[in-house]
Amino acid sequence: MATVVVAPTREETRQLRRVPDDLPPTPPDSDTNSDTEKGETEDAQRYVDAEVPLPPPTHPPTEVLEPDKKTPDNWLPRDPRLIRLTGVHPFNTEAPLSDLYNEGFLTSPELFYVRNHGAVPQVRDEDIPDWEFSIEGLVEHPIKLTLRDLLEQYEQKTYPITLVCAGNRRKEQNVVRKTKGFSWGAAGVSTALFTGVVLGDLLKKAKPKRGARYVCMEGADKLPNGYYGTSVKLNWALDPNRGMMLAHRMNGEMLRPDHGKPLRAVIPGQIGGRSVKWLKKLIITAEPSDNWYHIYDNRVLPTTVSPEESANNPKWWIDERYAIYDLSTNSVTAYPAHEEQLCLVGPQPNYRVKGYAYGGGGRRITRVEITLDKGKTWRLATIDYAEDRYREQGPRQMCGGELDMEWRESRFCWCFWNLDIPVSELAEASDIFVRAMDESMNVQPRDMYWSVLGMMNNPWFRVTIAKEGDYLRFEHPTQPALMPGGWMERVKKAGGNLANGFWGEKIGGAEAVEEPGMEGAKEVSMTKEGLKQLITIDELRKHDTEEKPWFVVNGEVYDGTPFLERHPGGAQSIVSAAGLDTTDEFMAIHSETAKVMMRDYHIGSLDEEGRAALVGNEVQPDPHSEPTPIFLDSRAWKKGILHAKTTNSWDTKTFTFKLEHDQQTLGLPTGQHIMIRLRDPVTREAIIRSYTPISETGKPGYMDVLVKIYFDTHERKGGKMSQAMDQLPIGHFVDFKGPIGKFEYRGRGICSVNGKERKVNTLLMICGGSGITPIYQVFRAIMQDQQDETKCVLLNGNRLLEDILCKADLDAFARDNAEKCKLMYTLTKAPEDWAGLRGRIAAPLLREHTSRELFGGEGEGGVMVLICGPEALEKSVHGALLEIGWGDEDMLFF
Ligand code: MTE
Repeated sequence: MATVVVAPTREETRQLRRVPDDLPPTPPDSDTNSDTEKGETEDAQRYVDAEVPLPPPTHPPTEVLEPDKKTPDNWLPRDPRLIRLTGVHPFNTEAPLSDLYNEGFLTSPELFYVRNHGAVPQVRDEDIPDWEFSIEGLVEHPIKLTLRDLLEQYEQKTYPITLVCAGNRRKEQNVVRKTKGFSWGAAGVSTALFTGVVLGDLLKKAKPKRGARYVCMEGADKLPNGYYGTSVKLNWALDPNRGMMLAHRMNGEMLRPDHGKPLRAVIPGQIGGRSVKWLKKLIITAEPSDNWYHIYDNRVLPTTVSPEESANNPKWWIDERYAIYDLSTNSVTAYPAHEEQLCLVGPQPNYRVKGYAYGGGGRRITRVEITLDKGKTWRLATIDYAEDRYREQGPRQMCGGELDMEWRESRFCWCFWNLDIPVSELAEASDIFVRAMDESMNVQPRDMYWSVLGMMNNPWFRVTIAKEGDYLRFEHPTQPALMPGGWMERVKKAGGNLANGFWGEKIGGAEAVEEPGMEGAKEVSMTKEGLKQLITIDELRKHDTEEKPWFVVNGEVYDGTPFLERHPGGAQSIVSAAGLDTTDEFMAIHSETAKVMMRDYHIGSLDEEGRAALVGNEVQPDPHSEPTPIFLDSRAWKKGILHAKTTNSWDTKTFTFKLEHDQQTLGLPTGQHIMIRLRDPVTREAIIRSYTPISETGKPGYMDVLVKIYFDTHERKGGKMSQAMDQLPIGHFVDFKGPIGKFEYRGRGICSVNGKERKVNTLLMICGGSGITPIYQVFRAIMQDQQDETKCVLLNGNRLLEDILCKADLDAFARDNAEKCKLMYTLTKAPEDWAGLRGRIAAPLLREHTSRELFGGEGEGGVMVLICGPEALEKSVHGALLEIGWGDEDMLFF
């Protein structure tokens, strides 16, 4: 008979947030560690008396944290202890490892790791019972259900389940060689009591048809590439041993927003990525999910596949063999903690080393082993499988569901292990390794299996031991996110090759072997050698000025003052970065040469406090402020929504973005550019490029950006940005910042370069391919202004006739303004009947059509040459123009 539980009212939800009175808190550790031994408290006694470990005390956060206030999650209180792994937003976080371990077997919802690909869908408590979801696709009886129906019509179960992000421990991979993923430490794992309905019960009601093999799931969070979604195998979903459920409660309370409120899938034993949150749809299919996130996320590609190869060759991503489902065997040492010190002179003869371990696919961890001599000899650790205690309970009600596990042989939770080691032996050792094995004898490997997404990292976990006087100091491999520290970083900095099979150390006098391919490409140094100056955040902020702008790249401080005049992007882009961390923008748009030049402007390193203060401290527009008449802001990224895509040719599209309101104008001076930022949906890595919109700058409500899409080909990798733009779904946000650029056309022959005005009577415009876009802005402004008598000579080079961008508009302007306009096109692959010029824009063509003499004596003002195109074109035009009599002072490169 079905257990009837009604959806909680708002009052009940509030009450549920409190741990039920009968739930004792997790005990303080009662082992021999000097730092944790606090004596047995009353609470610990209650815990010992309790039959099963129950949730730790929870303190639901009540305050929206400062960094979240400027994000779409500005309504969501969170725990400040969580470490942000991808800047401020989206929220991807793990707890400090010791805090996580100290919580015990179950994790409180506020410290449970979070992996959000985008903004958290907001659901009002009163709407929770009406949350709808569907079961559709290859089923005899498609079902639409509300959460109320789910609670009233189905049996509720409660299971303890560990969720693990496939990226857990990825930072170690990133230190060896940068993967496409962000840097999880070892706390991308947590455990809770989940309450809900067994997935198989629902699927059986819907009756999958013959040929159905997969259960695709979709969440309510709309992301750059559609809603988050993935799939699991139907056969598994129908198997009660696999324990898959749709859960609405976590540790007895309503799911918290970050964890899928009001409904999520929980897929035990598999990577967390399959446990879709904010669940809206179950679609039964014959094929695996074709959701973008299913294909481009959660895979372990062969180690030979480089980031470049994976980007060039889609075949790697659609091969189901590389999709990850079951977790791999893993174990981690929590104590000794990173940078923990152990006094050698003291009463404690032993130190208790301890940590967690988990297996995949429901397989039990059957042994955890420790070595102090790099794997020559091993000792067995004690394992505590708290999950067994729930199983031994037999059926009983817990947290609004039936705890019913005694019949099930699979294990879905982590276990804790510990081993007492004589302190004297630790003093003799240089490291402690741990490895676990599951019941199928899957043992953790000694060496890392590096792969392009850096997932499922599970080599032996190594904690190093340094003897410092009377103390031993311990170091974990890494620290999460950009936090410095860990033996891996130290070894790498000292020149060790982490891929040499000896953790970067020289063993037995052997020279470290260079293994090309495993070490990351050498990066250009942007710092002054030997400069040790530390700079505080206050000092940096004092230079948030136009006159003496200091800015930060990769934690280093640069003084942009001496370069204001000469900066090719204009002084404005340096000034806009004053007092800010501009790492993403700088690294995305500067060449190696520019990076080398940075050494001259390097003035010191931001101190640790300063670095922490800048983490995620990007200037964000205030979400509550009144909308401004002008969209662009040179210091903050603003969001525009992709409104329409118009295909102009096979490789060019116009992207129309909606500004913040219908009356708003872009605010872009003629001839200047904007920066567009997209984030790689998998890695959150920023892709930033500058573009010049083609819509009129005064157009209200919208802007149009013409983009030539550089598709990947067999021979060549395509454009990261243009392809990412092409994949953007309509309705998605894109970030914009600007204006940037040193040139501005102010009308009637007035040009401004770096703020200095200059009157010209003729503009010679030379461009290739999409280099037409900034030129077009200036050209159009002149053609549209009847009073503007400035002459334009435009030489526009392309390969094919159909490659010429904006041709119809250019031709129309030229036709209507013959007296002030000369338009020349040149093609390198012209059709036979082509009446225009032929050949590339190089010395012969320039000599014939743009020599200095041809422009001599044209009125009182001068001539200015505007050039825009690919780097190679700009270089060759520069050389040729110098040869034919132009000077550097005449030329302006966009
Ligand atoms: N479901 C939706 N709808 N959106 C997401 O971004 N992230 C997935 C999964 N389910 C995600 C999702 C990933 S990668 C993981 S590891 C888990 O949720 C994390 O669950 P948690 O945040 O509750 O720990």
